[in-house]
Amino acid sequence: MAGTVVPYEAQPLAELDPAAATTVQIREWAVSVRTRIPEMTEDELNQVDALLIALRTRLRQLGQDIDETERSRILAWKRKGELLGPPKAEFRGNQHTASAALENGNAADQRDRQERARARLLAKHPEAVEEVLSGPKPSLNKAINLAKRQEAAAKATKVAERMAAEIETRPLVIVDDLDDELPEVDEPEPPAALSNWWQLGRHLLYCGDSTDPEFVERTRGARLAFADPPYNAGKADWDHGFVWAHDYLADSAEVVLVTPGISAVADFFAVTRMPYRWSIAAHITNGMTRGALGFGNWIYTAVFSNARSIHRNAQDHMALSVDASSTPESGHESRKPARLLVNLIDLFTDEGDTVVDPFLGSGTTLFAADQTGRACIGAELNPTYQAEIIARYGAGAVRLP
Ligand SMILES: C[S@@+](CC[C@H](N)C(=O)[O-])C[C@H]1O[C@@H](n2cnc3c(N)ncnc32)[C@H](O)[C@@H]1O
Repeated sequence: MAGTVVPYEAQPLAELDPAAATTVQIREWAVSVRTRIPEMTEDELNQVDALLIALRTRLRQLGQDIDETERSRILAWKRKGELLGPPKAEFRGNQHTASAALENGNAADQRDRQERARARLLAKHPEAVEEVLSGPKPSLNKAINLAKRQEAAAKATKVAERMAAEIETRPLVIVDDLDDELPEVDEPEPPAALSNWWQLGRHLLYCGDSTDPEFVERTRGARLAFADPPYNAGKADWDHGFVWAHDYLADSAEVVLVTPGISAVADFFAVTRMPYRWSIAAHITNGMTRGALGFGNWIYTAVFSNARSIHRNAQDHMALSVDASSTPESGHESRKPARLLVNLIDLFTDEGDTVVDPFLGSGTTLFAADQTGRACIGAELNPTYQAEIIARYGAGAVRLP
């Protein structure tokens, strides 16, 4: 079949040879297949996706852009999401519910579940799909990430509305009901000013800068601090111009763990004066990120402590196979895998202890502490992520006066 232009209708999947197809053939096929996507079954959509991936590889070999194959993949995934229907309960509500679901079952089940959750997300956010399809360099990942951000923003809006409703429904003082002997009141008392602190069950979230004295003060006496600061890699709005001013953690917590980002390790060690004790490596077995050598699939954690010994009779490396960063509850670009935090918290603390996180981001540490019976005191500067954490915690989150 190689060498001829073959529209989808005349071209059964198996007969299009991805190893020999030309750029024109691939693009025409990718465009033509879209007309059939609305009638396809889930199996057919999976087959089309697999073929599109092979054709995308061929385009890359030919040095061509992959816009058309990606556009078709986005539409195929969205259609799959429509066929699957609304998200299942395991992907609603708290992050730890989703993480627990991800940690059950084998890797193939997890991947399947993640893919279905992503397809449903695309079906739920057609405007994200449209935006990526009509923009430059469309890609399935771009569409999924945009849909995730829209999902997170929708949840954040709900929380903000709830906060506003709470303030509006505070009972006003009705002057007529007051005892005559009380002095006359012209205007009802304004509601008490609310603080920057939120209570999420046994955890505390500080909505502000983790160098603020009121946050620093509250971190004293913690068992563990985990700090995942911005790497100044320009990955997001918040990821530049960051200056480490958090050595206070070594006085607050018995052990301080820092993930400075492998590219920023040298900068971090040039600034910190905390007493360095050891390092921990976490190999991501199912990850695929870029690094200076080509790929970078492990997380570096530096261990600091003023304690006489940090001995735990433990290994200083671990393998992580859970990609919790794919949970759809957050649009945060730099989440750490939930399993990393669960392992570190298990290693350095006991049930009932307190864990501090000055850079909560999506709240991974808080939800890992929740899952393992610890309390977390964390700070996050960005209002979007603050609202996301509150929304992910769900019912029971209370803003402190
Ligand atoms: C690398 S991310 C942390 C990701 C987090 N470990 C997770 O798993 O989601 C760093 C976060 O620190 C926040 N941040 C930066 N400077 C801060 C500060 N001074 N106080 C509190 N949060 C800060 C950023 O908004 C960003 O969300």
